[in-house]
Amino acid sequence: MPSRPKRPPPHVFGKSRDPRTRRFGKQLLNWFDRRGRRDLPWSRSRDPYRIWVSEIMLQQTRVATVIDYYRRFMARFPSVNQLADADLDEVLHRWTGLGYYARARNLHRAARIVADKYYGRFPTDLDALVQLPGIGRSTASAILAFALLQRHPILDGNVKRVLARLHRVDGWPGKRAVEKRLWILAEQYTPGDRVDDYTQAIMDLGSGVCLRRNPRCGACPVAGLCAAHRHGDAEAYPARAPRKVKPVKETGMLLIRNERGEVLLEQRPPSGIWGGLWGLPECAADLGSTTRDFNTLGLTLKTGRPCEVIRHTFTHFHLDITPIPARVRAPLDTVMDNQNRVWYNPEQPRMLGLAAPVKRLIEKLN
Ligand code: ADE
Repeated sequence: MPSRPKRPPPHVFGKSRDPRTRRFGKQLLNWFDRRGRRDLPWSRSRDPYRIWVSEIMLQQTRVATVIDYYRRFMARFPSVNQLADADLDEVLHRWTGLGYYARARNLHRAARIVADKYYGRFPTDLDALVQLPGIGRSTASAILAFALLQRHPILDGNVKRVLARLHRVDGWPGKRAVEKRLWILAEQYTPGDRVDDYTQAIMDLGSGVCLRRNPRCGACPVAGLCAAHRHGDAEAYPARAPRKVKPVKETGMLLIRNERGEVLLEQRPPSGIWGGLWGLPECAADLGSTTRDFNTLGLTLKTGRPCEVIRHTFTHFHLDITPIPARVRAPLDTVMDNQNRVWYNPEQPRMLGLAAPVKRLIEKLN
């Protein structure tokens, strides 16, 4: 465990800052001292590796969901070198259910870079950290603030909301000019003293109090400083993204089983949706509802009646999946396990990363 870095003395930063930003920091930290959660498995750690993994998991997933995944992941990969040595398949397997698998692929790639290029020690400057796959400026800043008490502003989605309301910043934060303004505010508010607690506090304020809908202004320690609260229009900030209707795509997924009850899985290409994960072979969604022979994968299949459509929603589109049960009619030994095809036994699952709806479909089989 790296030794705890010393906090910079309070007079180094902060004293010259504007009284309003000082008041904000003070009220936020008082609230954090009374209310902040410090019992999470990654809280209080100064190990950049542990912090990095927690920050990546927390990027698009709620704290309550992350806790168990994080514990299991850390038990299996207690150091960056152990993560770098692991197969990507196993990393994806440990990630199954957390979603946004690019995070896991990037984590693994970045671990290999840290192991090879930095001899297993995390870079301690922002410019080097943001070069690693999957680590943006805000995440790099949070890692350095938590691990090394370096003063860097952060600006994740929750913090954008807090600052946009505090100053009634107009415009959608996806626009470059709006984001730039928010970075300037983030910079102004970030204190030099207790930057780790401040960073956690402003994230927690955004995720637990300054909610997108029905913000809990009555419980907010900085409501008295908030322009949007004063105007009674907190929910109007930040402006929403221009509305786009998500397109719906359709696919069929073949649940091909052999006489042992195993299911045929294929590894997906490394990029694209569920890149590198294992999934069911796909086919047209409208194969028809009658049992018939169907040629694919070089096999003759007997397909059954399609099951009910399930919808999986991605950031940019909905995917309507029609599961289609099938049996191989040609001799079974025409389908052997190979590098990217396996017969998967749901009773004794192997360590493979499965796309979430595929996992659910397989679990329903019996
Ligand atoms: N989201 C990203 N990082 C987080 C953290 N450290 N705590 C809570 N939510 C977060």
